[in-house]
Amino acid sequence: MPTLTWLTREADIRLAQKAPYRLLEAVPDLSYGDAQTENMIIQGDNLDALKALLPYYAGRVKCIYIDPPYNTKSAFEHYDDNLEHSKWLSMVYPRLELLREFLSEDGSIWVSIDDNEGHYLKVIMDEIFGRKKFVATNVWQKRYSRENREAIGDVHEYVMIYARDPERFKLTRNKVSLDEKSRKVYKNPNNDPRGPWRGIPMTAQGWRPNQMYSITTPKGKVHLPPEGRCWSTLESEYKKLLEQGRIYFGKDNNSQPNVIRYLSEVEGHVPWTWWSHEEVGHTDESKKESQLLFGKDVTFGTPKPERLLCRIIEIATNPGDIVLDSFLGSGTTCAVAHKMGRRYIGIEMGEHAVTHCVPRLKKVIDGEQGGISKAVNWQGGGGFRFYRLGDAVFDETGKINQNIRFATLAAHVWFCETKTPIGKKAKSPLLGVHNETAYYLLFNGILGDKRPDGGNVLTSKVLKDLPPFEGQKVIYGETTRLGAERLQAEGIIFKQIPYDIKAR
Ligand SMILES: C[S@@+](CC[C@H](N)C(=O)[O-])C[C@H]1O[C@@H](n2cnc3c(N)ncnc32)[C@H](O)[C@@H]1O
Repeated sequence: MPTLTWLTREADIRLAQKAPYRLLEAVPDLSYGDAQTENMIIQGDNLDALKALLPYYAGRVKCIYIDPPYNTKSAFEHYDDNLEHSKWLSMVYPRLELLREFLSEDGSIWVSIDDNEGHYLKVIMDEIFGRKKFVATNVWQKRYSRENREAIGDVHEYVMIYARDPERFKLTRNKVSLDEKSRKVYKNPNNDPRGPWRGIPMTAQGWRPNQMYSITTPKGKVHLPPEGRCWSTLESEYKKLLEQGRIYFGKDNNSQPNVIRYLSEVEGHVPWTWWSHEEVGHTDESKKESQLLFGKDVTFGTPKPERLLCRIIEIATNPGDIVLDSFLGSGTTCAVAHKMGRRYIGIEMGEHAVTHCVPRLKKVIDGEQGGISKAVNWQGGGGFRFYRLGDAVFDETGKINQNIRFATLAAHVWFCETKTPIGKKAKSPLLGVHNETAYYLLFNGILGDKRPDGGNVLTSKVLKDLPPFEGQKVIYGETTRLGAERLQAEGIIFKQIPYDIKAR
């Protein structure tokens, strides 16, 4: 497959692998609301933050939305958007590689971008996610007024979508609910007890012999399908609809037949790639939302409108699903996900993680009524935890950092072995069973022995004390006193800490 090359590509495509595993440290003072919530705001470089999250969230995220700097050559107040072209590629490539690992089987990734880097982005996303995983490029009409400063006014951006499994995405994605304007098309002039309805012309393109019958109106006029068209149903189906009172012959009761569709039966529209500002908002709207939240002096330069995120989250997720945004900016994705009852993880490296995202989400929890609040009947509630990046799990020589706790190393070992997240916080040396192999970790006196090396060495006694498993066992420990024959007889593969733990 053709790939994009740039000067530092060879080094850049190894960056994700080389990024260290770091710990996430909770900051209780900046957290708010329900402490049990899984919602996370993380301040730090997303390369490190994503690596830190992988052991817990790989394969669990239903929708990733990112709005990376577009490389517009501008210096915004809160971040610089002026990378040399290949540096932008070098920034985005390893981050996309990590993001791919988070997608669930039915998950999708949505990326906002414009023409500065959009076409290069498409080529690297084809490479990273697979050309066949491409779903669509949506065009978002970001302005409602004409742009007269350029030779050709720029009024749109893109939102590119890739799915881990496009077939599954097609079956599971949601339709777009009708907006006020589309609902108004449905009326009830005859007080039909089935509610508001509209007439859909009963014709289809082409000529099909069994759809070319004649139809007589109640007033006696005979209709045949118009030139070049046929009726859209067979005669038997038409007769059923007529009996059910679902054929409308116009106000005069003498015009061409229409099939009656009730509003109550309409699930919504199949999403399409044209996203007008009327439907999903525009940049003026998002600036106003930002001013309302933060005041005129501290607004954020490039926020997205809440309605845009609402559209994405509505199509891609259901309540309770996890949404991830690793270029969080002023926190729009998390605020919208919160109001829509989704769980979320937001990562932002700038100080605005504290000055914007935290106060915004606090307001949301307190029931803030801007953005999409009224449309989703938001009443407040919930919570989020704030984190910063802490120590690396391994030092430069590959040794385990002294401050690492059992549960942290357990999550790391489990993920390296199984490529799946650990689920619950590990409290036992038996971390779990995957593909008929049990994984154990002897570390930090998990067996209750408080001496520094206590219980970290695999001896006969320690083996006896371990939760039993009939079958293949992988045991991580500092060393073992059991010989090769005994290990084989017991079905044990012994792995030595730290050397056999993948540091990267
Ligand atoms: C275009 S803004 C996102 C705006 C956001 N969608 C909103 O509605 O407010 C891009 C953000 O990505 C952040 N960013 C850029 N590089 C980053 C990195 N390596 N790690 C984390 N955040 C980063 C910038 O600080 C900036 O806030």
